[in-house]
This record gives sequence, C-alpha cells and structure tokens, in this order.
Amino acid sequence: MGLISGRVFFKILAFLCFIRLSQGRNHSATPDLPPLRKASSFSKIQHEAYDYIIVGGGTAGCPLAATLSKKYKVLLLERGGSPYGNHNISYLENFHICLTDESKNSPSQGFISTDGVINSRAKVLGGGTCINAGFYSRANRRFVKDAGWDEELVNQSYPWVEERIVYWPKIAPWQAALRDGLLEAGVSPYNGYTYDHLFGTKVGGTIFDEAGYRHTAADLLAAANPDNLRVLLHASVNKVIFKTRHGKR
Ligand SMILES: Cc1cc2nc3c(=O)[nH]c(=O)nc-3n(C[C@H](O)[C@H](O)[C@H](O)COP(=O)(O)OP(=O)(O)OC[C@H]3O[C@@H](n4cnc5c(N)ncnc54)[C@H](O)[C@@H]3O)c2cc1C
Ligand SMILES: *[C@@H]1O[C@H](CO)[C@@H](O)[C@H](O)[C@H]1NC(C)=O
Ligand SMILES: *[C@@H]1O[C@H](CO)[C@@H](O)[C@H](O)[C@H]1NC(C)=O
Ligand SMILES: *[C@@H]1O[C@H](CO)[C@@H](O)[C@H](O)[C@H]1NC(C)=O
Repeated sequence: MGLISGRVFFKILAFLCFIRLSQGRNHSATPDLPPLRKASSFSKIQHEAYDYIIVGGGTAGCPLAATLSKKYKVLLLERGGSPYGNHNISYLENFHICLTDESKNSPSQGFISTDGVINSRAKVLGGGTCINAGFYSRANRRFVKDAGWDEELVNQSYPWVEERIVYWPKIAPWQAALRDGLLEAGVSPYNGYTYDHLFGTKVGGTIFDEAGYRHTAADLLAAANPDNLRVLLHASVNKVIFKTRHGKR
C-alpha cells in the first residue's frame, strides 16, 4: 500500500463516490434547450453564415457554444445523437450498461489507444459527461496558471456550471468507510465537502442529482441565445478546409 500515492487514492475515491445506487426518478429536470435538429435538415436551411463552427458537442463544445452564442452566430456539429430520453445515459445504475454498449447507436465508443490502453469515448451530444463517472471538481490552480488563464475570471466562471449541473452526493456507508480508511492510511488533511482541488481527502461534486439522474453538458445549451445557435446531431465532420488569404485583394 505504501507504493500507492495519495493522489492515486484520491482518484479512486473520486471514482467510487459516485457509483451509488439510487431508486428515485426526476424527469422534470430536462432543461429548456434550443432545437436539436438532425444534420439531414441542414439542406433545408437557407443561406446562413456563422461566426463560429464548433466541431463536437461534448463536455467543452456545449458550454463554448452557449457562451459564444451570447454575441455571435454559432453552428454546433455533433456526430452522435441526443442524450435525452435515453435511460442508459440518464440513470446512474445504467452507468456500466452505457459504457459497455457496443451497438451501432451507442453513446459510447470503445477504442484502444496507440499505447494499448483499452478506453471509451463519447459519441453523443453532451460528450464525456454522458458516459463518465460524473465526478466534478474545480481545476488544479497550477493547471489554470500554466494554461495562462485569468484565475479570477476562471473562479467567477465555476458557478455558471455548478448551478446548472453539479450536486453534492449523499455518502453511502461503504463510501464513508472508504473515506475513513483513506484518512487512517494518512491521506490527509480531510477537506470535507468541497469543489476545490485540494491535497488530501475530500468529498467532491457530482453531476448525478439526488435521484441518481445524470445532468450533462448538453443541459448547458439551455444558457444559449437560441436565435444565435444552431445545433445539428448526427453531423460527423470529415474534413475542415481553411481558406487563407494573404493581403487584401
Ligand atoms: C469512463 C470514463 C469516466 C470518466 N470519469 C470522469 C469523472 O468522473 N470526472 C471527470 O471530470 N472526468 C471524467 N472522465 C473524463 C471526461 O469525461 C473527459 O475528459 C471529458 O468529457 C472530455 O471533454 P471534451 O470536451 O474534450 O471531449 P468530449 O466530451 O468527448 O466531446 C467530444 C465530442 O466531439 C464529438 N466528435 C468527435 N469527433 C467528431 C467529428 N468528426 N464530427 C462531429 N463531432 C465529433 C464526440 O461525439 C463528442 O461528443 C471520464 C472519462 C471516461 C471515458
Ligand atoms: C426534480 O427536479 C426539479 C427541477 O430541477 C426540482 O424542482 C424537484 O425538486 C426535483 N424532485 C426531486 C424528487 O428530486
Ligand atoms: C441500452 O443498452 C442496451 C445494452 O447495450 C441496448 O441493447 C439498448 O438498445 C440501449 N438502449 C438505448 C435506448 O440506447
Ligand atoms: C480562486 O479560488 C481559489 C480557491 O477557492 C482561491 O484560493 C484563489 O485565491 C482564487 N483566485 C483569485 C484570483 O480570486
């Protein structure tokens, strides 16, 4: 055990905290979204120009589209379908079913990385937040600094996500035992419930609500300006062509 670092322990805790079985249901939480259209409807759309075209309506693509649409015309292209109405995605107890679903329309796509690691990636609006373990934490401050981002602006932005799709978990007895085990093994200090990325042991956020219902990045599209955002599903991008013009003609 001495070989396992506190950081690895922390990750294990992060993952396990959210494998929590729950009986409740909450359908009323579906947000008010801009229309989610199929790519095949695009031919019917009149000439429309966009300031930004986002490839991939995933964890990053959805909030980016919502934010940009406040000021700009945005087209969001997602290769997968909608996560709404899909029990495999929405309910915590189906986490493993979703992840191992190998059918053609699965929101999860198995792959093996170039260095041989068996993994899964998302193929659905909402991206990884539709298939992942749902653990939510704010970023490591070092990461924000190294990326050259404005930390104050980053701090101001967290609640935008947290208010919409992040919940506090209820700790099951075995999870409490695991937490206590970590502390007993010296993974300290105990930071309690916090979204902050801190060394030691903590209880972080989750995108599963109290009823075990998954809230995804797709929900963040509800914050978009629907007049400026067009979302197309089953829209696989095969090629991106950049036209560069040197000097004015
Ligand atoms: C099993 C598992 C568990 C995880 N658990 C956690 C966790 O608990 N907490 C956590 O924070 N992170 C977790 N992660 C990691 C997290 O989910 C990812 O890091 C994150 O979702 C990546 O976001 P992204 O926006 O970069 O990509 P994605 O969310 O994957 O979005 C990419 C999107 O682009 C689309 N796309 C790809 N190619 C094309 C194309 N050519 N044309 C159109 N669309 C395209 C995809 O369909 C997808 O929707 C987990 C990941 C996995 C696989
Ligand atoms: C269901 O979701 C709605 C909207 O988010 C919320 O007001 C309500 O309290 C939730 N009900 C349960 C049982 O969690
Ligand atoms: C859920 O997963 C099962 C098992 O892979 C699959 O047969 C079923 O079609 C999936 N349901 C939906 C709605 O995608
Ligand atoms: C951002 O938030 C972190 C953690 O809550 C805090 O320690 C830090 O001082 C904040 N930074 C700024 C610039 O406000």
